[in-house]
Amino acid sequence: METSVLRSVPLFAGLSPKHLESILAVSQTQVFPKDTRLFGQGDRGESLFLVLSGRVKAVLLAEDGRELILAIFGPGEIFGEMALFDPDERRTATVVTVETTTLLTLSGKEFMAMLGDHPAIAQSLLRTLTQRLKDSSSRIANLIFLDTYSRVGTYLVKMGEQQGRRLADGSLVLTRPPQQDIAEYIGSSRETVSRALKELEHQGLIRVIGKKVILHRIKA
Ligand code: CMP
Repeated sequence: METSVLRSVPLFAGLSPKHLESILAVSQTQVFPKDTRLFGQGDRGESLFLVLSGRVKAVLLAEDGRELILAIFGPGEIFGEMALFDPDERRTATVVTVETTTLLTLSGKEFMAMLGDHPAIAQSLLRTLTQRLKDSSSRIANLIFLDTYSRVGTYLVKMGEQQGRRLADGSLVLTRPPQQDIAEYIGSSRETVSRALKELEHQGLIRVIGKKVILHRIKA
């Protein structure tokens, strides 16, 4: 693999080609099919993963089988860093591929050594963790303060802003996420999400056309 792939990764921005070469030398690239369980919550973990292509989800599983999606990671994003800082090296969540995914796996030991040698990587990691903490805080607030209907709307806007396309009239169009995924992300059931989507459509806030959903009245 070429170092150019690593150059576009925010975590490694600013590293010299020589340093990027040394990262590649201690990492492995592997392709995983959709729905591969990469590791489970509580497993021991000693490596860090970087998504090169595809997407994975970090989930918490309840004993009754219900699932809460903590985060979805796409190209350029890392996961599996928390176990590296845990004295017991335990994974805090289960991670599963959402689609065919190519991952770069880095040994935790090498990564920790890199953090010591390159303060820029440590700073970038702290920025990433801060953003994730902010996202978690805002999701906790949404769970407490918003009803399901508003949580579905908030989720769609977030996805629209991340993955959607803006139309000339300011609306956002995005690929309709599966209702089960929305339910697992906002901590609700598929049936409730289905009702909330119908209500949002009834209110004229969204329009579902085939596999697309248009979000109206979103300001640029
Ligand atoms: P680790 O605990 O090694 O394995 C599970 C990974 O899921 C974890 O590292 C993080 O990369 C990610 N993760 C766990 N909790 C959260 C969260 N609240 N927000 C974003 N990512 C998380």
